[in-house]
Amino acid sequence: MSKKEQLYEGKAKKVFATEKADEVIVSYKDDATALDGLKKGTINGKGSINNRMTNFFMQMLEKQGVPTHFVEELNDRETVVKKVSIVPLEVIIRNISAGSFAKRYGVEEGIVFNDPTIEFSYKNDDLHDPLINSYHALALGLATKAEIERIKELAFKVNDLLKAYFLKLNVKLVDFKLEFGRLSDGRIVLADEISPDTCRFWDAETNEKLDKDRFRRDMGGVEDAYNEMMRRVFGD
Ligand code: TMP
Ligand code: ASP
Repeated sequence: MSKKEQLYEGKAKKVFATEKADEVIVSYKDDATALDGLKKGTINGKGSINNRMTNFFMQMLEKQGVPTHFVEELNDRETVVKKVSIVPLEVIIRNISAGSFAKRYGVEEGIVFNDPTIEFSYKNDDLHDPLINSYHALALGLATKAEIERIKELAFKVNDLLKAYFLKLNVKLVDFKLEFGRLSDGRIVLADEISPDTCRFWDAETNEKLDKDRFRRDMGGVEDAYNEMMRRVFGD
């Protein structure tokens, strides 16, 4: 499988065409942005960590009945995935209050919810990814009712599987963001990534942050946190 022309460059990844019309190659960058792209930086080694971690979890989820876009890891930073049209919704699941939830509703971080929450943001940089509900998404034609139901079902299933998995690694899965895509036959699959960029991970004993919040909040120890998550997932 070889890279053809670049189709797209996002904040953390590039996407290339391949010789197959229904497959593309994703290339993970070390670039990091936060605060709607205002804050820019580099997290050394992030591209390779996010690539490998995402692929590990995509394969695990696929085995447990969650359809994903994963096809084949090519090398440290590059992976073949099925070509999808991305549903323009960021799907956020939360198990513990943090980040924009804590800010929006005026509560402290760290409240453990009895049941996970789900919310959607409209993926639209010009509008700064506004919070949106499923009726708005339907009204805007971003997805069908059946697609939204399927996305919710899959997102909660991913949460159940990942939450249990991370707990065994002594990590609390605080919250995370998923993206879904449509295959050419219309089926919904999990796409994008599952990494310290898109999840909040707290050490189960100390609540130490092991994710991109260290970059967002200028806490230092960013690379160490990514490496520590890598160590917990893959061993030394
Ligand atoms: P939030 O608390 O800032 O809304 O973030 C919720 C989760 O979504 C958190 O795990 C980080 C992730 N996230 C992304 O992956 N991309 C984004 O652009 C944002 C804002 C959050
Ligand atoms: N990557 C996102 C941005 O630059 C934000 C984030 O992950 O915090 O807007």
